[in-house]
Amino acid sequence: MHIHKYERWWLTFGIGMLLVFLATIAFAAFADNINPPSGLQAIDPTKVSKTPPFDHPGLRRLPDGNYEAYFVAEVFSFQPSTITVPVGRKVTFYVTSPDVVHGFYIAKTDVNMMAVPGWVNSESHVFSSPGTYLLICHEYCGIGHQNMFGKIVVK
Ligand code: CUA
Repeated sequence: MHIHKYERWWLTFGIGMLLVFLATIAFAAFADNINPPSGLQAIDPTKVSKTPPFDHPGLRRLPDGNYEAYFVAEVFSFQPSTITVPVGRKVTFYVTSPDVVHGFYIAKTDVNMMAVPGWVNSESHVFSSPGTYLLICHEYCGIGHQNMFGKIVVK
């Protein structure tokens, strides 16, 4: 089979770029240890509503003055849908899902997770200014996806 010279250049270029991108991803994952937040804590997705602390999702104050917030993301809402947290305290968000993959993104922050059935994901954040922050599901999860949101009120 004859491949034209220019065609061969483009094939070489395309495959070369693919290898460069794969190497970049591998470098970020292994050398820089950049990973998505996930995979450390497992949960039975069929028993989320009976598994503490997700049987009573919501905000907990820790002895050191910081907070933990437990959320269940399910079609098509967050439980709880609203929490109120103080300015300047570290809040660690924990999220899981009993049904399908959802997103957990707090607008204007770096809290950006997936809620994956079978796993608990977590991220911490310190809110430095008061206000109402929108919590949105940013993974398409079904016909009510666009209605899946909540609020983080920071006072
Ligand atoms: Cu839940 Cu989109």
